[in-house]
Amino acid sequence: MNIELTGLTRRYGDAHALREVNYRVPEGVRVLGLIGPSGGGKSTLLRLLGGLDVPDAGEIRFDSTLLSREDNPLRSHRRRIGFLFQAFNLFPHLTALENVTLPLREVHGKPPGESEKIARDCLDRFRLADHAGKRPAELSGGQQQRVALARALAHQPKLLILDEPTSALDPEMTAEVLDVIAELCREGQEIVLSTHEMGFARAVADEVVFLADGQVIEHGPPAQLFDRPESAAVEKFLGRVMRY
Ligand SMILES: Nc1ncnc2c1ncn2[C@@H]1O[C@H](COP(=O)(O)OP(=O)(O)OP(=O)(O)O)[C@@H](O)[C@H]1O
Ligand SMILES: [Mg+2]
Repeated sequence: MNIELTGLTRRYGDAHALREVNYRVPEGVRVLGLIGPSGGGKSTLLRLLGGLDVPDAGEIRFDSTLLSREDNPLRSHRRRIGFLFQAFNLFPHLTALENVTLPLREVHGKPPGESEKIARDCLDRFRLADHAGKRPAELSGGQQQRVALARALAHQPKLLILDEPTSALDPEMTAEVLDVIAELCREGQEIVLSTHEMGFARAVADEVVFLADGQVIEHGPPAQLFDRPESAAVEKFLGRVMRY
């Protein structure tokens, strides 16, 4: 993926969620993992990358093109992205099938028949064909997240953005969703994900960024960052989260 951040800053009042972040995703990276303490700026960065929010200062370049702050071009940027957030993604009053079909029709302008065909194929792919007619409340947490993933991928996004996709799930459902994401990674889907699952980040990411206090403290290939961190902050963080 070709992403470059220059002086990227996002403030909420006096607090900096991101402060002058400079970072370029190294060449050849397909899966980028964001890790770091709560409040470090991961979700803020993912929202900016997806065009859901605009920075107060600085720039994002996507495939060497400056991401606009204007609403219209941002909207077309958003269409190239698939999103999955930690939970409560789905429309509760719609079935799994309708949840996947709706954005294809309404956002991507596909005809109803084609939208439904794509949606059914996507649900099939994630082994959800039997659940197409169920509403979210009738599905397990893991199944809901797989439906949300099917929806995020139905329009074949250039980039998939996952913000802690498993943090609301129990261990078994976490494994179920992580398996599906790992499969997407193997298939070559470009993904930026934030996660508290260090083992998973290590297994699927080509590059890991440690964000804390709105800054990139350290980044590198997972083997380097997890086994030989250079900064005391990363070492301390890993010592805390990998203890159990
Ligand atoms: N809408 C908002 N209004 C005010 N402050 C916000 C808002 N969104 C985020 N922040 C602040 O910005 C900082 C970064 O938050 P962010 O959600 O990006 O962190 P995070 O790394 O995703 O944390 P977590 O691991 O808990 O999800 C935090 O201090 C947070 O309180
Ligand atoms: Mg977050």
